[in-house]
Amino acid sequence: MSETLTLRRPDDWHLHLRDGAMLRAVLPETARHFARAIVMPNLVPPVVTGAQAAAYRDRILAALPEGMAFEPLMTLYLTEDTDPADVAAAHASGLVKAVKLYPAGATTNSASGVKTFENVRGVLEKMAEIGLPLCVHGEVVDSDVDIFDREAVFIDRVLDPVRRATPGLRVVMEHITTSDAVDYASAQGDDLGATITTHHLVINRNHILAGGIKPHYYCLPVAKRETHRLALRKAATSGSKRFFLGTDSAPHTDANKLLPCGCAGCFTATNTLSILAQVFEEDSALDRLEAFTSLNGPAFYGLPVNDETITLSKGAAVTYPSQIETEDGPVTVFDPLTELHWKVD
Ligand code: NCD
Ligand code: ZN
Repeated sequence: MSETLTLRRPDDWHLHLRDGAMLRAVLPETARHFARAIVMPNLVPPVVTGAQAAAYRDRILAALPEGMAFEPLMTLYLTEDTDPADVAAAHASGLVKAVKLYPAGATTNSASGVKTFENVRGVLEKMAEIGLPLCVHGEVVDSDVDIFDREAVFIDRVLDPVRRATPGLRVVMEHITTSDAVDYASAQGDDLGATITTHHLVINRNHILAGGIKPHYYCLPVAKRETHRLALRKAATSGSKRFFLGTDSAPHTDANKLLPCGCAGCFTATNTLSILAQVFEEDSALDRLEAFTSLNGPAFYGLPVNDETITLSKGAAVTYPSQIETEDGPVTVFDPLTELHWKVD
């Protein structure tokens, strides 16, 4: 008898869809399983204004294959020149669901991000007033801070001071990678959420660095030591409403990953749900998978949960392509280093 698991249709609260040929290639991988996703604005050039977000949303919907239903939840890329009135208008029209904060230089296409937080005070205050969440890439970029410490230092030096200075600001700590972030998030109120990626539940830094360098496991924030991975698993599988799925599925062509200075990002859209079901089963938490993938995120964002459901069944090893073909070249699908047995029907 095969085991099955039925969930409310999941959402992805942190996703990179890119543009053009890459968008067309990766969008079906997400839309096949997910109803909605918070779409990252780190295009070149970035999605800064409401008008740019509206145009990007149109391009995403135009790239959606016939017969697939998917709702992109748009974000704005916060710069020191962002106009609070434009943000408020984009929120009021229902177009924009969050603003994304990249510390300048922290990750892919973050050069237009924030250097001096005082310069975005007006936008943050407006967002607190209108209840628009700030999605935070939580890493400092100071060259004297070790890359493995950048998230923990960000919490103390930036995140907590910004939250204290902006009462009422709703914040998502994105793609958390440390027990420090789990502890901080766990201690806060309902104005704070934290997303966890699929890959950070599976890999630690040894997977990147031991036995030869593995560019396909390199992403930002970089995976940390095993104790941190275990803290993330405990948080994700706890059912706590503070934590929800943001895959951070971030496609780069293999040509761009396998360079002397390769791009950061793991592409997990294709096999995320099979991996997550296995992770939650291993941790005896299958009954809490739905909270992580389908309930806690909408609750934080004040959106209804999806009406439809998906069913996963457990059986023989699941097959999925090791690469997605794009007009720009192949994109390697995240390898969870084990056979997967939960398949989305
Ligand atoms: C993301 C990308 O490629 O856009 N890369 C990554 O490693 N996660 C950027 C980001 O979210 O940091
Ligand atoms: Zn990302």
